[in-house]
Amino acid sequence: MKSEKDIYQEHYIASKEAFELWQHVPAPVRGELIRCFGNTLRSHKEEVAKTITKAIGKTINESRGEVQEAIDMCDFAVGLSRQLYGFTMPSERPDHRIQEVWHPLGPVGVITAFNFPVAVLAWNFCIAAVCGNSVIWKPSEQALGVAEHIKFLWNETAWSFTRDTNGTSLRDLLRVLPNEPGYGKMLAHDKNIPLISFTGSEKTGRQVASVVANRLGKSILELGGNNSAIVSDKADIDLAVKGCTFAALGTTGQRCTTLRRVFIQEKAYERFIWKMVSAYNSIKVGNPHNDKTLVGPVVSKECVLYTRQTIDDAIYQGARLMCGGHEVFFGDNFNYVYPAIMSVDTPIPIMKEERFVPVVYLCPYQTLEQAVRMCNDVPQGLSSCIFSDDVNETEYFLRNSYTGIVNVNTSTSGAEIGGAFGGEKNTGGGRESGSDAWKQYMRRTTSVINYSRYLPLAQGIKFD
Ligand code: UN1
Repeated sequence: MKSEKDIYQEHYIASKEAFELWQHVPAPVRGELIRCFGNTLRSHKEEVAKTITKAIGKTINESRGEVQEAIDMCDFAVGLSRQLYGFTMPSERPDHRIQEVWHPLGPVGVITAFNFPVAVLAWNFCIAAVCGNSVIWKPSEQALGVAEHIKFLWNETAWSFTRDTNGTSLRDLLRVLPNEPGYGKMLAHDKNIPLISFTGSEKTGRQVASVVANRLGKSILELGGNNSAIVSDKADIDLAVKGCTFAALGTTGQRCTTLRRVFIQEKAYERFIWKMVSAYNSIKVGNPHNDKTLVGPVVSKECVLYTRQTIDDAIYQGARLMCGGHEVFFGDNFNYVYPAIMSVDTPIPIMKEERFVPVVYLCPYQTLEQAVRMCNDVPQGLSSCIFSDDVNETEYFLRNSYTGIVNVNTSTSGAEIGGAFGGEKNTGGGRESGSDAWKQYMRRTTSVINYSRYLPLAQGIKFD
């Protein structure tokens, strides 16, 4: 029987061989392949969505959105394949040129979490591939069957794409490791992997980061969020309720962009709280395959128990349970718990932790400065939002909220792929998907070219 190490090594060698050839394929041709992958995903969108729903219980609607996010990434990467621009700088030496040129890194390691098993792979894979890298993917142990489905579709795409690639084994541009924790460890330790992109818990993220840093590799970290909203008394309250409800309930509270803390100006507090509680009460929890379901199950039985434990812990610290929190059984294979709203007079210690369960805390505030301070007073810093129609308030918030994504009059969750995604502090500092996140998947050379017959030196140094 092959050992885990042998299996890993086979994946690495195949990935490395694919990279050796792929790096020489012109970037716009690489983009063509990703365009085809996008088309494959388009024509299999419904099936992939069903696979996601079956694996992790995400509602079918949201699963479709997730596949769309992967398709959007393909489109973005196609455009990017013609825009891997480097600057040209004026040289202080005569007849010299200084030029920044970007080169691929090699096989890149991507470790994904259960909650966005397709979109997060796409953020990394589509960009890494047009930049000329191959990818070794370690999917989550909890998202069974999803990586296999994506790999199958990738193989089909690669098989039918033959243009100008000098026989590169395109299928091996994406290798999928077995979803057992040992493989993630091997990937992180492998000094031949120049970059590891990790999405998951802060605890595992710290381990990955230190292993990779210790071998002087690069990592992109996308760890927890513990996101907050501010609802001003100058907000459109119905919009705020809708935005906060979506952000707290989407993916049954299991997004890293999930809203976990809401600070409400005291004049609007009562009104907001009752509207949000009634929004929660009007939403039925149900089978995620049903088209009409807005809130599905949580990922596991442990998650149900952890939700209940969290509510107990919060009550012990002085919070009040406003609604939800009870387990329900529908006789299918999923695990259900009603999402909970808790209210507090001032922040309690548990609000500093990010627990990946559907529990949101509502808390009143007096001044905006105090609200922003409370938002920032957690170890994480992914996403935040404010609901207010007052430009002074929104600008103050945008300047002072210490998160990677800051939103005005919209949710903390549901970010588009075009912007760089990621956050500050214990969220890990990584940026993925749009904007110039691609630069992390390449190495930059500063090329200096002397096209004279002399050797003029910089800084006026004479060496004659
Ligand atoms: C995640 O939860 O890991 O912004 C990613 C969002 C989604 C991605 C979430 N586009 O909510």
